Amino acid sequence: MKPSDFPRDSKFRDPTTPPFQDETGMFHVMSHADVLRVLHNADEAFSRDQEPYLPEGAPIHIAMEFMWMVEPFTLDGDAGRHDVLRGVVEPWFRNNAVRTMEPVIRRITIDTINEVVDKGTGEVDVAVEMSSRLAMRVICALIGMDMDREEWMRKQLDIFLTSPWDDMPQQWELQAYFWWMVARRLNEPSDELLDVLVRAWADGTIGDRELLGYLFGFTAAGTDTTGASLANGFVYLAEFDLLDWARSRVGDDTAMRRAVEEILRFGTPFPMKPLYVRSDVSFDGLEVPAGSVLAVWFSSANRDEAVNAGQPQAHPDVFDPERWPNRHIALGFGTHYCLGAELARLETKILLEEALTRLPGLEMDPSKPFRRIAGIVDAVTEAHFTFDQDGADRVRAG
Ligand code: HEM
Repeated sequence: MKPSDFPRDSKFRDPTTPPFQDETGMFHVMSHADVLRVLHNADEAFSRDQEPYLPEGAPIHIAMEFMWMVEPFTLDGDAGRHDVLRGVVEPWFRNNAVRTMEPVIRRITIDTINEVVDKGTGEVDVAVEMSSRLAMRVICALIGMDMDREEWMRKQLDIFLTSPWDDMPQQWELQAYFWWMVARRLNEPSDELLDVLVRAWADGTIGDRELLGYLFGFTAAGTDTTGASLANGFVYLAEFDLLDWARSRVGDDTAMRRAVEEILRFGTPFPMKPLYVRSDVSFDGLEVPAGSVLAVWFSSANRDEAVNAGQPQAHPDVFDPERWPNRHIALGFGTHYCLGAELARLETKILLEEALTRLPGLEMDPSKPFRRIAGIVDAVTEAHFTFDQDGADRVRAG
């Protein structure tokens, strides 16, 4: 398998695939225009809120209280919770996230790379030892969770990811730990994201389960997606023989920023979003009745010429880290546009900069397996690289 191989049928990466209904009854749209039309949601015809569709008495997990599962409207036509929930934290993400998290992310990144160097083998699985680990550590720091909970939290996330929505365990231990974090923060207030949440809970803007929903939701939204994208960065640069190019661009912010956008577009870690259809709609003559589930495919829309915005540039099937403009929708669009977008970009840029500097001669090891899985997130699970251990020791010694 090559890093750029797609782990599912290639029609899900082809924007010219006409809208269709699959054998399970689910509908799919692929083009940039169709996906944007759904995400615009001008007539409120599509909803992420699946609670009304669950069987009577099904357990409601705290993740379902998070902003990504609710809309600005309810299925009954009342005002929904989305804008209130997003409004509580959006100012922090807009004004504080990058400024306060930049030094934190850089420190965690350097510590993570130093652990690799200290093994002394000159080898690293960038998927496991750097990308997933870093993404989880940054989320722990973001939500105010102790770093020694890293592995435990990974297990909690896996329980959630492998359970069906209509039989989801309540994860009481996790809920209890979140309350303990809240209690600790009430005792020792600070000026972090958790404090914003605790204040909104204390003044009644958000409820008990909504408070826990954020802590879980940020972890679920920002861990595997970001981990996948970080690993994609290394494996695409390696596959397309661009690691030396990237090394020569460290310190060039514009070049790095553009490369990060292309890594997001080309890899599209979060490939598809399923939505409930509230009123009859049609796509290119395909009737999609109310009550259906419609999948919008970011992975195909990001291979549409529309991402080039009419500018002459490499075909979207090509990985071109200098592509600009880059109208990809790997981070969504509209009301639910990724709240952590700037953090995800920052993490990718910092890891590339630090790894390319601290692991000299980093290159992919073609003698070892490369593995990728298709799931809610298209993730790299194994990607072995080598580097110059003596050179890395010298950088580490300063
Ligand atoms: C490369 C990494 C990431 C990718 C590819 C990604 C992708 C996306 C996409 C496509 C959406 C929109 C889903 C929809 O339309 O329903 C989204 C929403 C969201 N993302 Fe990200 N994401 C990433 C990292 C993060 C991080 C680091 C965080 C923060 C902790 C985060 C928090 C969120 C939240 C809270 C939403 C929901 C926003 C809303 O419903 O208003 N994401 N993300």
